[in-house]
Amino acid sequence: MIKSLRGFRDILYPESKKFTEFENIARRVMDAFGYKEIRVPVMEQKELFIKSTGETSDIVSKEMYTLEDAGGRNLALRPEATPGIVRAYLENGLYNTQPVQKLFCIGNMFRAERPQKGRYREFEQIDVEYIGNPNPSADAEVIILLDKIFKQAQVEGYTIELNSLGCPKCRPPYREKLLSFLKQNEDKLCENCVERIEKNPLRSLDCKTDKLWLRDKAPKMKLCLDCENQFNQVQELLTASGLKFKFNPNMVRGLDYYSKTVFEFKSVEIGSQDAIAGGGRYDSLIKSMGGPDIPSIGWAMGVERVLSIIKKEPKAVYPLAFVISADKEGQTRAFVMMQELQNAEIQTGGGLFSQSLKSQMRVADKTNAKYALILGEEEIKSNSVTVKNLKSGSQEKIARDKIINFLEKNK
Ligand code: HAM
Repeated sequence: MIKSLRGFRDILYPESKKFTEFENIARRVMDAFGYKEIRVPVMEQKELFIKSTGETSDIVSKEMYTLEDAGGRNLALRPEATPGIVRAYLENGLYNTQPVQKLFCIGNMFRAERPQKGRYREFEQIDVEYIGNPNPSADAEVIILLDKIFKQAQVEGYTIELNSLGCPKCRPPYREKLLSFLKQNEDKLCENCVERIEKNPLRSLDCKTDKLWLRDKAPKMKLCLDCENQFNQVQELLTASGLKFKFNPNMVRGLDYYSKTVFEFKSVEIGSQDAIAGGGRYDSLIKSMGGPDIPSIGWAMGVERVLSIIKKEPKAVYPLAFVISADKEGQTRAFVMMQELQNAEIQTGGGLFSQSLKSQMRVADKTNAKYALILGEEEIKSNSVTVKNLKSGSQEKIARDKIINFLEKNK
């Protein structure tokens, strides 16, 4: 038998319902905040991710699913939504009509990481991008939006961490300082960090292996006045809105496009993959992709990780009616009745008319339906339906034209 790929999984009912219910809550909140849905392709030119997510990021250098198509084009399955959204913003000239765009995207992402609890190779993200607003209010708004979605969905026990990565003015001198510190301590770094010393020294700050000693000893970032003001204002707005957060000077995020505010929502409940959502400002990305100078901020959450910490289970839904044909004569009428009920939006099962009455009843029981509706020769003659309450075992005959009424009253 052919099996699914490692790190890829089937989502069966009722887990699938948990996804839908959560997405619906998120959609309602994002609607209220004025975000509009955008859907972008699952596959793009590989170059798009190299240019935006960044060549030195783990996502691009190690985790991308790439392929060459018949025309020799280098393609990649999207590992994240931001590059595709920015490309769509530029390609469709959205900035001409309205440079400020509040967008959201729900969809599956692909990363060839080593699968473990909370880490899949195909996973769902809900992604939000607030394009074109440099004001700290945009930073605060997207963070509050994320928190509101979690509160509405009864996600519990997470913490919010914040940092500022500075800008092209204050980051390069810091990078140099950190680089020389890392070079002096090269023998104490893990293999990964040694490898990326030159390419991306900041990443060593959140390295899981080295961070304990690095955290204390590494030089600290000194923000320029603009970045410091921006970061202070973001914190002020969050505090004024009653949000609790923690400053984490070692948070650097794994994608190359960030500057200024970065943040992560974390939960200890999901083990080592503790980030349930993350994001930040990407003020230079749109320009670096050939567009105008438009500062932006956004985040994405990992839906599987979020759902794994929601304790509340979705309410199970069972059919109200299960339609059974007692003999060949009843089949057409039973089929028509099923449709009538479904048209009236009554949850209806049935239709297994090749099976015996007994085995149809057994299936009705298994589906947890409340009523079995039986149509046979006798019912056809008297223009009625036998209604068996599968919970109490009681049975009665109901006139055929009263059946919808009966079911609506006795849900
Ligand atoms: P990210 O931190 O790479 O950011 O991913 C966001 C979230 O996706 C993570 O916090 C995690 O919950 C989830 N996630 C990532 N990898 C996996 C995986 N292998 N399995 C399950 N869940 C996973 C981004 O993707 C940025 N595009 C966020 C952003 C939008 N920044 C600005 N705008």
